[in-house]
Amino acid sequence: MEQNVKKPISLSGIQPTGVMTLGNYIGAVKNWVTFQDECDCIYMIANLHAITVKQDPAALRKNTLEAFALILACGVDPEKSIAFIQSQVPQHAELSWVLNCYAQFGEMSRMTQFKDKSRKHADNINVGLFTYPILMAADILLYQADVVPVGVDQKQHVEIARDIAGRFNGLYGDVFKMPTPFIPKAGAKIMSLADPTKKMSKSDDNLNSFIAILEDKDSIIRKIKRSVTDSEALVAYREGKDGINNLMTIYSVVTGKSFEEIEREFEGKGYGDFKLAVGETVADYLAPVKDRFNALMGDKAYLESLAADGAEKASRLARRTLSKVYRKVGLL
Ligand code: TRP
Repeated sequence: MEQNVKKPISLSGIQPTGVMTLGNYIGAVKNWVTFQDECDCIYMIANLHAITVKQDPAALRKNTLEAFALILACGVDPEKSIAFIQSQVPQHAELSWVLNCYAQFGEMSRMTQFKDKSRKHADNINVGLFTYPILMAADILLYQADVVPVGVDQKQHVEIARDIAGRFNGLYGDVFKMPTPFIPKAGAKIMSLADPTKKMSKSDDNLNSFIAILEDKDSIIRKIKRSVTDSEALVAYREGKDGINNLMTIYSVVTGKSFEEIEREFEGKGYGDFKLAVGETVADYLAPVKDRFNALMGDKAYLESLAADGAEKASRLARRTLSKVYRKVGLL
């Protein structure tokens, strides 16, 4: 039995803001699913992070539950992993407060995402947006995570979590495990279908630029057909062929075929054939995810009970770290 072998702890989160795309799936959630065999995994829907930008309460409530259902539909297995909704585990907010007092204004001011978001939401530069990375540090450190799978854009936040952990440990002894970011290799970055030099994003105003995980088959095929490529009529992975490279990446992830195999498969064929194959394969690949999602959303009581179970398990672990922190700091 493997029971005595301690697996590394992997932790990650995703914000429940709007639809999840094929890019989120391939770039993040698919890795979460794979990690379940090698690690003890903890995955959360980061709804506390979501309110750092203005949210409609009803939409946030709906998106949070849908995002939770969606990660399960994608294959996060509550029997193997702990999956939960961040706001249902109060220790995140509690540890976050303590860590606020061990983070410096100067270092937080240098966070690139804060600077970007302040520009983008100039009418709402709230303090939560500023301390967002500290809440994320609390998410990670509460569970003594070894690995944190994230996109490149979140790497700086994992680094600040390490800085805060190191500083805290320096003062109080070994309280926190040092987390390591895990950035999936470049192949897993899916680009916009409308502008393949930009990352595929669910917040893109151009709906043709992304594929939602729950999108229907016709729409997926139509968007792939309309995707921006080049005029060379050569299915090959080369520099400068951003659109084709992106479709080849998608096709490769979904079918498991290498770029060479794909090049051979479409040798002498036009982009029309290639795009149709990509569209159909992606649609077939996502269909069972959609079915599982609909089944979960159709049984809300069951879905909510899964969230409650996940929160209970998470909280049990989180309480351990938090009480140690309180003791060390001198809080009664
Ligand atoms: N900030 C992350 C994002 O927007 C989501 C997130 C919240 C997260 N807490 C986390 C990721 C903890 C990894 C670990 O993508």
